[in-house]
Amino acid sequence: MMPPEPKELHVDTAAGPVVAITDLRKSFGSREVLKGIDLDVAPGEVVCVIGPSGSGKSTLLRCVNQLEVATSGTVTVLGTETTDPDVDIDAVRQKVGMVFQQFNLFTHQTVLENCTIAQRRVLRRTRAEAEAIARTNLANVGLEDRGNALPSQLSGGQQQRVAIARALSMDPELMLFDEPTSALDPELVGDVLSVMRTLAENGMTMIVVTHEMAFAREVADRVVFMDDGMIVEQGPPEQVIGAPEHARTRSFLERVLDPTHPHPGNR
Ligand SMILES: Nc1ncnc2c1ncn2[C@@H]1O[C@H](COP(=O)(O)OP(=O)(O)OP(=O)(O)O)[C@@H](O)[C@H]1O
Ligand SMILES: [Mg+2]
Repeated sequence: MMPPEPKELHVDTAAGPVVAITDLRKSFGSREVLKGIDLDVAPGEVVCVIGPSGSGKSTLLRCVNQLEVATSGTVTVLGTETTDPDVDIDAVRQKVGMVFQQFNLFTHQTVLENCTIAQRRVLRRTRAEAEAIARTNLANVGLEDRGNALPSQLSGGQQQRVAIARALSMDPELMLFDEPTSALDPELVGDVLSVMRTLAENGMTMIVVTHEMAFAREVADRVVFMDDGMIVEQGPPEQVIGAPEHARTRSFLERVLDPTHPHPGNR
């Protein structure tokens, strides 16, 4: 495989971070699932978060836009502290697109309606304006001719691309992806990853929880490996995936890259 080209050109480290997370902790009942996370994401940066099931990846992502309320610590998104109890969270969420494993489309509405509802209700765009923006974004994900389809008439990969187009139609400044391809049949994964790759190349700031190591290697500016509610190591993909320092990272990567590899009996 060709070594990936250096791609930090679009990362603007001089500007303030898009996301700043300091000593973030989250407990469910007595169980602490995030144990002090520190993470900054620069404008244009693509951070891929990897780690075993239950390590807290989704919880971390959900704490960014307060879909989960942090137990302690601070999260600041685009200069606004989302962990402040008085925050206008809707104003922040408008600028943060989120794409989930299960596409979460409105099943009784067409693709075009899915991509226009929030634009009209939240951003108060006219129908014509919202539809024009939706059509542009649908074209960008390769679905320009599917606006009148219902989600059920589309493949999983197409539905996920609609979910991405819907998020992009809100003009987000940050995109969060939580295992966007893990519910897809293998042959549909590539189209979704390719949309995400283009988004990254065009300078979108992204946090991507993924098990797609080839994608992380190629597209991420930084890979963060989490285990047991902590960041164990982070750095450029060639370091974290190519030459991991920690035994836990190595053992995780062995299992992901070769699913027949046995799990060490420590959990
Ligand atoms: N709403 C909740 N109530 C109670 N426990 C929860 C809740 N959400 C998550 N957890 C627990 O928190 C821990 C971290 O979960 P999380 O979903 O963040 O892990 P993950 O790294 O995303 O895992 P996966 O790779 O399986 O998606 C798990 O032990 C999970 O059971
Ligand atoms: Mg998860």
